[in-house]
Amino acid sequence: MLPDSQRDSLLASARRAYEHAYAPYSKFRVGAAILLEDGQIFTGCNVENASYGLTNCAERTAVFSAISTLGPERVRIRALAVVNDRQVACSPCGACRQVLSEFGRDAEIYYLGPQGIERSSMRELLPDCFGSDSLT
Ligand code: THU
Repeated sequence: MLPDSQRDSLLASARRAYEHAYAPYSKFRVGAAILLEDGQIFTGCNVENASYGLTNCAERTAVFSAISTLGPERVRIRALAVVNDRQVACSPCGACRQVLSEFGRDAEIYYLGPQGIERSSMRELLPDCFGSDSLT
């Protein structure tokens, strides 16, 4: 479990990230921040498209940003925070859970629930997930 101060600064990074969101269709701006095992933080926002299905969520943008900067071997996600500009309950979507689990099977996930910030684990959010072990 992250110390409160580290959790709060990860949430603050996520809040700053939604300022960069491109969400002209949903008008729902989302920001995410991931903390890696080595202490680095990467952020992401949602990026929509006129062809709606091409939208990239904030969480996946953050993961892809880390990988494109560091390479996949160094991306081990310890925690993720996700927030939105409407302050409504919103946890990572199914697609993002699958992508997050690839690089952080034991990650802690902080998101806005009905009663405020909630903490969960990737294993709780995506039990029995499909992984690379099935492909070896
Ligand atoms: N969205 C995210 O970025 N992350 C989530 O966890 C949920 C949904 C985005 C996708 C789309 O741009 C908008 O929110 C509405 O679905």
